[in-house]
Amino acid sequence: MTLTETQVLKADTAGLARAGALLAEGHLVAFPTETVYGLGADARNDLAVARIYEAKGRPSFNPLIVHLPDLGAARALCEFTPEAERLADAFWPGALTLVLPLKKGAGVSRLVTAGLDTLAIRVPDHPVAQGLLRAFGGPVAAPSANPSGRISPTLAAHVLAGLGGRIEAVVDGGACGVGLESTIIGCLPEPTLLRAGGLPSEVIEACLGYPLLRSVEATDNPVAPGQLESHYAPKGRVRLNAEIVDPGEMLLGFGHVDAPINLSPSGDLVEAAARLFGCLHELDAMGAERIAVSPIPDHGLGRAINDRLRRAAAPRP
Ligand code: TXA
Ligand code: MG
Repeated sequence: MTLTETQVLKADTAGLARAGALLAEGHLVAFPTETVYGLGADARNDLAVARIYEAKGRPSFNPLIVHLPDLGAARALCEFTPEAERLADAFWPGALTLVLPLKKGAGVSRLVTAGLDTLAIRVPDHPVAQGLLRAFGGPVAAPSANPSGRISPTLAAHVLAGLGGRIEAVVDGGACGVGLESTIIGCLPEPTLLRAGGLPSEVIEACLGYPLLRSVEATDNPVAPGQLESHYAPKGRVRLNAEIVDPGEMLLGFGHVDAPINLSPSGDLVEAAARLFGCLHELDAMGAERIAVSPIPDHGLGRAINDRLRRAAAPRP
């Protein structure tokens, strides 16, 4: 499906009302959250959800996150374990996604869960996302608003570069503050880290008082590159932990290094996380064919940054 033009909507009352109406009509609307821009559709509408997969070119076995305005709306869709209640209480609204048993009759399209009997849900902490959820008045399924396998968008301009002409609208709410996708915790029922993300796992473990289980996918141990799906990839080839820059490479720096683009000259991991995808988009725009990346400390948000970078460096399909 090729549309003529993607509307850019202002993040004001009229823009959000228009965006909510488009969602209600089964259209796709990208919107900002505190993590990255999401590509939203009515989670109860099979056709609308199918359009997400189509617009992203995403394999249909990959399930989507449903966005809700508050815990009450989340409880209508999923069974909350005591651990899930505790995490939701502590970290919602925020960069935490919970995977929980789906309630019978919740009304969520099977395409959202890719046929699983579990559902990923999140309450975003962004006034524009909250405004849209309230204007629409229903659950919004939203993966990151990028073509499958490409870098997640942290600006409306990134969304337009990747999906312009393929979606009805994007609400422009400026830059995303966190800049990394949410941390995903499965509570089925043991709390398990499924994806490192914008909320550091240490903070979650401090709340629970015990360590999270770790899925093989989310392991912190270096994984053989061949086992990693290529994901979050810029157009150029990526080499990690680069202490020196080889001829023909462009350096994506971290800390006190001489680099054309630096994630955080002062070595601040929160700043680096917020800038990561924007820097990768910039390297794309500069036509970088080979990208060397400075070493990033592997603690706190550094783990999620390194996870994304390992995927960016993985062999391409
Ligand atoms: O920050 C975020 O999480 C952003 C914003 C837009 O909210 N969304 C996002 O969605 O990153 P997406 O679709 O790019 O990533 C969703 C991840 C996928 O890796 C998917 O496999 C996992 O969530 N997921 C969804 N439902 C699941 C389920 N029932 N069980 C396990 N994993 C699930
Ligand atoms: Mg994504």
